Amino acid sequence: MNDSLILDWLNVGLRWVHLIAGIGWIGTSLYFMWLDAALIRSDPPRSKVEGHAWLLHSGGFYLVERRKLPPGQLPSPIHWFKWEAAMTWLTGFPLLVTVYYLTRGVYLVDPAVSSITVAQAVALGIGLLIVSWLVYDLLWSSPLARGASHAATVLSWALLFAVVYGLAHVLSGRGAYIHVGAMLGTIMVANVWMRIVPAQRDLIAAATAGRTPDDTLSARAKQRSTHNSYVTFPVIFMMLSNHYPATYGHPLNWLILCLLIVVGVGVRHVMIARERGKPADWWLVPVAAAVAFVVFLTSPVWFRGTPRGARVGFTAAKEVIDRRCVSCHSQRPSDDIFRNAPNGVTFETPESIRAHAETIRARVVVLRNMPLGNKTGMTDAERDILARWLDQGAPIDGSASER
Ligand code: HEC
Repeated sequence: MNDSLILDWLNVGLRWVHLIAGIGWIGTSLYFMWLDAALIRSDPPRSKVEGHAWLLHSGGFYLVERRKLPPGQLPSPIHWFKWEAAMTWLTGFPLLVTVYYLTRGVYLVDPAVSSITVAQAVALGIGLLIVSWLVYDLLWSSPLARGASHAATVLSWALLFAVVYGLAHVLSGRGAYIHVGAMLGTIMVANVWMRIVPAQRDLIAAATAGRTPDDTLSARAKQRSTHNSYVTFPVIFMMLSNHYPATYGHPLNWLILCLLIVVGVGVRHVMIARERGKPADWWLVPVAAAVAFVVFLTSPVWFRGTPRGARVGFTAAKEVIDRRCVSCHSQRPSDDIFRNAPNGVTFETPESIRAHAETIRARVVVLRNMPLGNKTGMTDAERDILARWLDQGAPIDGSASER
């Protein structure tokens, strides 16, 4: 077994468990936010029962109650819902290492963006995960976070956008996107384990001892769980973003990510407000504006047109592809990292090249993020050859003399 085969299988295993744990975590998180809003409050408050809800799911009725614990009595077993968060991180971080840190920087750095070395980029990535939690936690434990906490909110948004902007100017677009996601995901998990679970422990200890629980702990836990709930949608997008080169591969990728964060947070805000019966639909206006702006930014008007020039025959186009692409995109790649055709896409026959004409245009001419990290050193003149060939309808029966 060679290294890359082990990495491939690690990748599959970690990603699979990561997804399952993440779905479980986000599922319970969405469910409890909804449940809290859906509870019918007891009025006048019945002793101990704060609210209840009737639910129907898969063949049965469920009565869920939210209660204060009677002093000195602890029901058992109690389900905490904290392992989903832990598992998500414990599979997510090694996945980050496998895909981004152990692949000699192919996905992590981009010489067209900055001259950072792979080792520096890895240090930056890991450092970011640690420092961002410390800064966030300090900010939200400080006096700025008390009361309406507008100052802490504004500062958090500014810091988040600064990180997006900064990373996009140092790492590859893909590396920047995944690291913003990993940063927010790490903060979410740390919120659960360092702030929310300790508050819950205090609730239990207080119930057992028959004392009143520490209000500041539970108020802070509530604040942190609200933050978690707001960032889930943006984080999910970032985790999937490597499928969308039009976002991370865009020259203004940082702006697109900032806008998509606003979209995710905005949609979640509208959902939460609706669940609670508070009108916040006006939030859909900035959300729609952000979506429209992203669509505008990624539309072709933004990109330079194809240079005019003589007709390009298939032989000329194929020469470029043979020179710059097939080291990865073939049945048996000669590349040192990719042992299988990336995404199963090969360019060994005229038909297979032609079948991918439009995605080749997108990646080579418009976004210019293929060859990956320009590993094979494609020149602008070569991109122009492919662009012209594509503009002329990507013929595959032309001869070299047409050049
Ligand atoms: C160093 C290896 C490497 C080289 C060289 C390379 N690619 Fe890729 N290519 C990849 C990887 C990895 C992916 C999958 C990840 C992604 O989509 O970014 C990919 C994906 C693609 C896709 C998207 C395929 C799909 O439908 O999902 C296209 C199109 C593409 N490459 C075209 C090219 C062209 C054209 C060239 C040459 C100009 C080229 N690539 C050179 C590694 C490479």
